[in-house]
Amino acid sequence: MEEVKFIDLFCGIGGFRQAMDDACRENDLIPNCVFSSDIDAACQWSYEANFGELPFGDITKVNEKNIPNHDILFAGFPCQPFSIIGQMKGFEDTTRGTLFFDIARILKHKQPKAFILENVKQLVGHDNGKTLKTIIETLKELGYYVQYAVLNALDYGLPQKRERVIIVGHREPIVFSFPAPIRPFKPLSEVLEKHVDEKHYVSDYILKKRKLKHKSAYNPSIWHENKSGNICSYPYSCALRSGASYNYLLVNGERRLTPREMFRLQGFSDNYKIIVNDSQARKQAGNAVPVNLVKAVILKLLPYVATTMDMTSVIKEYELEFA
Ligand SMILES: C[S@@+](CC[C@H](N)C(=O)[O-])C[C@H]1O[C@@H](n2cnc3c(N)ncnc32)[C@H](O)[C@@H]1O
Repeated sequence: MEEVKFIDLFCGIGGFRQAMDDACRENDLIPNCVFSSDIDAACQWSYEANFGELPFGDITKVNEKNIPNHDILFAGFPCQPFSIIGQMKGFEDTTRGTLFFDIARILKHKQPKAFILENVKQLVGHDNGKTLKTIIETLKELGYYVQYAVLNALDYGLPQKRERVIIVGHREPIVFSFPAPIRPFKPLSEVLEKHVDEKHYVSDYILKKRKLKHKSAYNPSIWHENKSGNICSYPYSCALRSGASYNYLLVNGERRLTPREMFRLQGFSDNYKIIVNDSQARKQAGNAVPVNLVKAVILKLLPYVATTMDMTSVIKEYELEFA
């Protein structure tokens, strides 16, 4: 069986890693992660508990020459400098805004066949599109064909509205198209736990306030309160967020999501070991990339990255699109 080597930058709890492992196994390929990195100690512990290796820390301290050769690079680089939550600082954020350039220097030196990058949707409009344009141009200058799309986890089987910009690059002029939406998404009832600890329930005061303000058309539903206090509810969750206020998302307006439910909403199976406390779990889930979404993208790129896979599927699709 063919081995496909990859690196997992800003790996967090391993959303890309899980997706790549699953995609390879489905195609009789052996996934081999040759390097991973995340600066956050709690993420490193979760990653080690689940994938058996402790990621390297600060990527800015890693000499690209010491990174092993690989076929594909994954990076869900930090979104804070680009997102509205980060006060629109972008490249001027001197500490984190430069982390994209760590990806660029690694790509420049290692020249893997392909890469997949992930970031918040706000990156697309940031600074009137100039930030993303700079990123894409930098990647093209490194010798890659580059495309991007905004994809929603809801379109790839998960009951979570989570829109992310996905940037794909490949060294040869292959025909790559982003995966078509796969609906329906998994019903919330399959994500919600049956027995939930009392500690996750809101106080009577909050409960009354919520129920006075809103009646849901769905059961079960997830209630979402926006910044101005308006409540809406859907048969899916709004995007999990690492730094969200405590009652931002409530199941049936009554309780917070449990750590397991949050991990499920991101596409992690119940085999994924949650070894951190509730607040760390909330942060880790809120930062993760939806496994199903990136897996769908990886499956589209794998026939190119793995030499033993049949590439004609990619060509056929191209012919169909233009028929
Ligand atoms: C958006 S999260 C990526 C989450 C990941 N895709 C997942 O599925 O969990 C960005 C990650 O970058 C990490 N990070 C930030 N600065 C870093 C640095 N200098 N070196 C390595 N990792 C860093 C953060 O700790 C965080 O886990």
